Amino acid sequence: SQTEKELLYKIHEIANDFFQDQMFETEEGKTIAYSYFKERELRDEIIRKFQLGYAPEQKDAFTEFALEKGYSKDILEKSGLSIFPENAPRGIDRFRERVIFPIHSFSGRVLGFGARILRNNVKTAKYLNSPETEIYHKSQVLYGLNQGKQAISKNNLCLLVEGYMDVIALHQSGIENVVSSSGTALTVEQIKLIKRLTENVTILFDGDAPGIKASFRSIDMLLSESMNIRILLFPDGDDPDSFSRKHPQEYVENFIKNEAKDFIDFKAEILLKDAGSDPIRKAEAIRDIVKSVAFVQNALKQEVYLKEVSNKFGLSEQSLFNELNVQKQLQK
Ligand code: CTP
Ligand code: MN
Ligand code: MN
Ligand code: MN
Ligand code: MN
Repeated sequence: SQTEKELLYKIHEIANDFFQDQMFETEEGKTIAYSYFKERELRDEIIRKFQLGYAPEQKDAFTEFALEKGYSKDILEKSGLSIFPENAPRGIDRFRERVIFPIHSFSGRVLGFGARILRNNVKTAKYLNSPETEIYHKSQVLYGLNQGKQAISKNNLCLLVEGYMDVIALHQSGIENVVSSSGTALTVEQIKLIKRLTENVTILFDGDAPGIKASFRSIDMLLSESMNIRILLFPDGDDPDSFSRKHPQEYVENFIKNEAKDFIDFKAEILLKDAGSDPIRKAEAIRDIVKSVAFVQNALKQEVYLKEVSNKFGLSEQSLFNELNVQKQLQK
């Protein structure tokens, strides 16, 4: 209901202040969380800009704080911030001993949180995120959109990265036209949010196997929504965060500008890696590329892309058109 939603917004605002106070104003927060962000080379102004915080070790720190302020168990549970196990005497906090990344709506309201463990540890998930609630639908939110919307319009380009720290690190190097779908596969709703600001997207994913897989999926989604796309994978295990800390802003900007490829060159490069002259591998790669061309919504653009494939692989346009039509049928 409307009043319940308002309460959920309010409790997220209160939690957001709480987590920031915990980081800046407690010994635990300063020594554990603030120093963590300093190790990751974040400057104070950027920590403040993204309202980063800390959820302390004490199991019920936030739950007790909110109950004392008069919030009910019911609303705390619905917010996803507290868990009330059956048979347990009191509630516990969802986020404990983690650094906190608030997730904002387009207009800047806090909808939920991402929370990272402090030391990489194989047993615990690195990031824990808010569950779906009445105000947080992860498929409809892009991390960084609120902080980046003006730069996205101004540059008429949206950079799409994988993670929270990638968005933040790029801002710190002066590149602000960036969003992240934060670990979830890119959705149509998220693309529509970008489209209000620009039709141009450059995908900047991690250069590992999951990054490649996610980029292939995102390419087809973005083409289906008539977006213009370019793609760049970072070298040698880098992501935009680590890369932007190794190089000055101008170098990063030029790298993105010069190394980002159109989807045909990008897919060809990846699919033909180690293929040698194997004709079967080559045919599979071409089919995979034509499959993406079939997602292009405009017939003229489709033809231009097919010409490019034809030139690149020395195949007749006619056989590519035949394959395109097969793929279009399969997509229906
Ligand atoms: N993610 C998640 N849950 C996980 C792992 C990842 O929600 N268990 C999401 C996070 O939004 C994360 C993004 O997927 O930022 C990308 O994952 P990954 O590349 O593994 O993490 P990084 O963002 O590089 O995290 P960090 O630099 O803090 O290690
Ligand atoms: Mn809703
Ligand atoms: Mn990754
Ligand atoms: Mn990463
Ligand atoms: Mn990273």
